[in-house]
Amino acid sequence: MSGEHYFSAHPAGVFAPRHLSVMLTGRPVQVTTAGGVFSPDRIDAGTSVLLAAVPAPPPGGHLLDLGCGWGPVALSLGLGSPHANVWAVDVNERALELARVNAAALGLDNVTAATPDAVPEDIRFRTIWSNPPIRIGKSELHHLLRRWLPRLDRDSDAWLVVQRNLGADSLQRWLESEFSGRARVTRAATAKGYRVLRVRWREEDGDVPASASANDGQPRSMTPE
Ligand SMILES: C[S@@+](CC[C@H](N)C(=O)[O-])C[C@H]1O[C@@H](n2cnc3c(N)ncnc32)[C@H](O)[C@@H]1O
Repeated sequence: MSGEHYFSAHPAGVFAPRHLSVMLTGRPVQVTTAGGVFSPDRIDAGTSVLLAAVPAPPPGGHLLDLGCGWGPVALSLGLGSPHANVWAVDVNERALELARVNAAALGLDNVTAATPDAVPEDIRFRTIWSNPPIRIGKSELHHLLRRWLPRLDRDSDAWLVVQRNLGADSLQRWLESEFSGRARVTRAATAKGYRVLRVRWREEDGDVPASASANDGQPRSMTPE
């Protein structure tokens, strides 16, 4: 991938599919990946930390994998919540195609892989799981989070995995300040140099803050580093 990033809309290079065996939701599955997308040879370590830390996904509604790559997070959401509508969103067309191929191979007709602008504006999410694209730069990342986090349903959570030495703690501070009074940000887990940040959305735009938590999604316990 020299000279380009995994988040290019149209990766250069011939599309050469690779077939991997990976574990998703505790079961072995075969997936297809390719060069030009994020972590094509394995499930990324941060993604593994995220998937180990999150609670079971909500059983219904719309669920979002923000920055899906070839799909390990979206596929986990689809396998874990077969009655939910899972949105696998990315700007990289090759990643979206791989996510579609992988969802189809697993019989997951509840997973839709789409560019950000193709997700209808009125959709609200019961959860967001994301290994976000830190390398797009701070201001782009902030723009991305300002765009999607306010689309959480009230009393719903986003779970974001970020490498500690790529700015997890400063991102947590930014989230706390940016969404002050609208969301509660906590560090749900720390493992292998990654933090999992939980952003609990407390209000809809123009709404009063929710008093009690309606959604009891608790993270799985993780061994501290
Ligand atoms: C760190 S990778 C995670 C990929 C995948 N979820 C995984 O765990 O293997 C972040 C992904 O975000 C995508 N991305 C970059 N900019 C984006 C944007 N503005 N909106 C949505 N996705 C974006 C990248 O193309 C990349 O696939």
